[in-house]
Amino acid sequence: MTILAGIALSGTGVFTPDQEITNDELVASFNEYVHRYNATHAKAIEAGTVQALLESSSEFIVKASGIKHRYVLDKKGMLDPDIMCPRIPERPDSELSIMAEMSVAAALAALASAERKPADIDGVIVSCANLPRAYPALGIEVQSALGIEGFGFDMNVGCSSATYALQLACGLIASGNARAIVVCNPEVLTGHVDFRDRDCHFLFGDAASAFVVERIDTARSPNCWEIVSARMKSRFSNNIRNNYGFLNRTAPEGIGSRDKLFVQQGRKVFKEVVPLVSDFIIEHLAANGLAPTLLRRMWLHQANINMNDLIAWRVLGRRATPDEAPTVLDEYANVSSAGVIIAFNKYSADLASGDYGLMCSFGAGYSAGSVILRKMQF
Ligand SMILES: CC(C)(COP(=O)(O)OP(=O)(O)OC[C@H]1O[C@@H](n2cnc3c(N)ncnc32)[C@H](O)[C@@H]1OP(=O)(O)O)[C@@H](O)C(=O)NCCC(=O)NCCS
Repeated sequence: MTILAGIALSGTGVFTPDQEITNDELVASFNEYVHRYNATHAKAIEAGTVQALLESSSEFIVKASGIKHRYVLDKKGMLDPDIMCPRIPERPDSELSIMAEMSVAAALAALASAERKPADIDGVIVSCANLPRAYPALGIEVQSALGIEGFGFDMNVGCSSATYALQLACGLIASGNARAIVVCNPEVLTGHVDFRDRDCHFLFGDAASAFVVERIDTARSPNCWEIVSARMKSRFSNNIRNNYGFLNRTAPEGIGSRDKLFVQQGRKVFKEVVPLVSDFIIEHLAANGLAPTLLRRMWLHQANINMNDLIAWRVLGRRATPDEAPTVLDEYANVSSAGVIIAFNKYSADLASGDYGLMCSFGAGYSAGSVILRKMQF
């Protein structure tokens, strides 16, 4: 799908939790859990009926993923070897929910950067990997908290939730349904991780991003980007999956089983997604008559530094510099849909009018979203 011309990405905002966890802290907690587990099951391990758990290591995490640190909503519960799960108290229905609060913080920053007020916005889309409830829509809760007339709704496309929502927002504006739309991507990914699983305990953090999409003829912020073209691609895969959902209670035998949290075949994802995404980007650029060498910057999904290095290499035909494909996952870890917008938020203001950039998310589904952007001139 190629979007109609005349629409801009005019501002972005980020909410970053104030609690932080380094790899060393996370690994110390995990290894304490391993020692306790192995001590408790010492006899069974010796008899060969239970398998001893293996320690995690900071060195492995940095080498395999590039992640060094993450921001989280609740450090204490996550690091307590008896709990190993964030503890985020339920709020009464009369209070703003936690994910709406994160969205509002990011949205206010995005509105300020777009030099827009809630009265200029006609719609709110909350698009993220994990929605906290079935209804009412988080998007409507955020719309109400921001005092926006018009409409709000939710969508969910795993790690591509932001780029898919951007394309939907373009369509809604092009069809005259809205003058401008705020998209929010709140991610509490520490809520969907099994912190007792060595393969994935280090992957995720919490954060929210937001952005404003509006017609070019009304856009006025200094860091405003024309949305030149946008495309989506999906291909079904079970290699990243989470079976948590409202039907769980209809099959009580499965409640609490491991598949009700994030599960992935990381190696397979790596091998399958790198060619899928690099070919997708190359084809998208070619369809718009753009040589990859014209790209001044790529804001790639922030899940794994080795994946990003390979994708950028395949697109450019050489290794990308950190300036060409900047990284935030060392600081944020994987924050799913928010990662690509956080990378854009931190690393786009320095580019010059007329510069081309490409945003590309990829993840569960599989789903990928590619957006070609050109910096506007005022
Ligand atoms: C998850 C991921 C970081 C794992 O890295 P990897 O290099 O594939 O690691 P593997 O799972 O193959 O494990 C390699 C070795 O490290 C070990 N290992 C796994 N976790 C470890 C840990 N926390 N600490 C130390 N060693 C660990 C494994 O046991 C294995 O040991 P072996 O070689 O003796 O069998 C990587 O596969 C990845 O990021 N894939 C892409 C996933 C992605 O982007 N998903 C999108 C999500 S939205």
